[in-house]
Amino acid sequence: MKQVTKAVFPVAGMGTRFLPATKASPKEMMPIVDKPLIQFAVEEAVAAGITDMIFVTGRSKRAIEDHFDKAYELESELERHGKIELLEFVQNLLPKNINCIYIRQPEALGLGHAVLCAQPVINDEPFAVLLADDLLQGTPSVMRQMVDAFEYYNCSVLGVEEVPAAETGRYGIVAARPLSERVELISAIVEKPKPEVAPSTLAVIGRYILMPSIFDHLKRVKPGLGGEIQLTDGIASLLSEQQVLAYRFDGERYDCGSKIGYLKAMVDLGRRHPEVGAEFTAYLAGFPK
Ligand code: G1P
Repeated sequence: MKQVTKAVFPVAGMGTRFLPATKASPKEMMPIVDKPLIQFAVEEAVAAGITDMIFVTGRSKRAIEDHFDKAYELESELERHGKIELLEFVQNLLPKNINCIYIRQPEALGLGHAVLCAQPVINDEPFAVLLADDLLQGTPSVMRQMVDAFEYYNCSVLGVEEVPAAETGRYGIVAARPLSERVELISAIVEKPKPEVAPSTLAVIGRYILMPSIFDHLKRVKPGLGGEIQLTDGIASLLSEQQVLAYRFDGERYDCGSKIGYLKAMVDLGRRHPEVGAEFTAYLAGFPK
């Protein structure tokens, strides 16, 4: 059985919900206290044993490449000022065995198209997809849990969570029947259905492990919702020839693609932050003022 060693991070989106913050810098670089969202997602993949990080980027995304690259000026300044701890910190953001690969998505044609752009470096292997604006906190990491499920069942696995019925229109929604405590067999998947027509309230969050045959399906699907090549439609097509599982992850999700989710992540992770957590918790105890 092939191992999951590659992860795709589609980061070409415009981030319009966070304008003007995202006018000149990528939404994936927005920090939770001091760590950008994209780094949380990459660390989650590293914790799952993934070594090749493939970023599908677009315009105004250079900051992501710079973030994971060597920063000569910063490093020599830190060294000159004797800030050795900080120097080692920025030099070791990622373990040495991790490769970062950047592919440009020339046009924003949808999430399915972004994933398809990564095909030349994935070839014939199962791979993970992580959407950095879904920030997931779990022990073990949510992608680790999903890789474990993949290794057991040897088929595509989608991370899922129950959402309020009114919110089905924001997610890919699956129809599924339980196989075990956390795993369900998917029979259908629909992109962003209105509550009246949604097959359930089980929503796909931004974590996928996909068999490489998904690429053939993505090449064939027609533009779907919003005129975009939807990953959900590719998975619906994949379902016609092989099983796809839904995995109810153990952990907390913050929808950092929305302002309220981003604020919740900032508060919760701020309270647990090793440096400022205690002081911030004490500050919050003063509310309501
Ligand atoms: C994408 C997918 C959707 C999925 C969601 C998870 O939508 O198209 O199926 O449920 O991510 O965050 P987006 O949030 O990019 O609109």
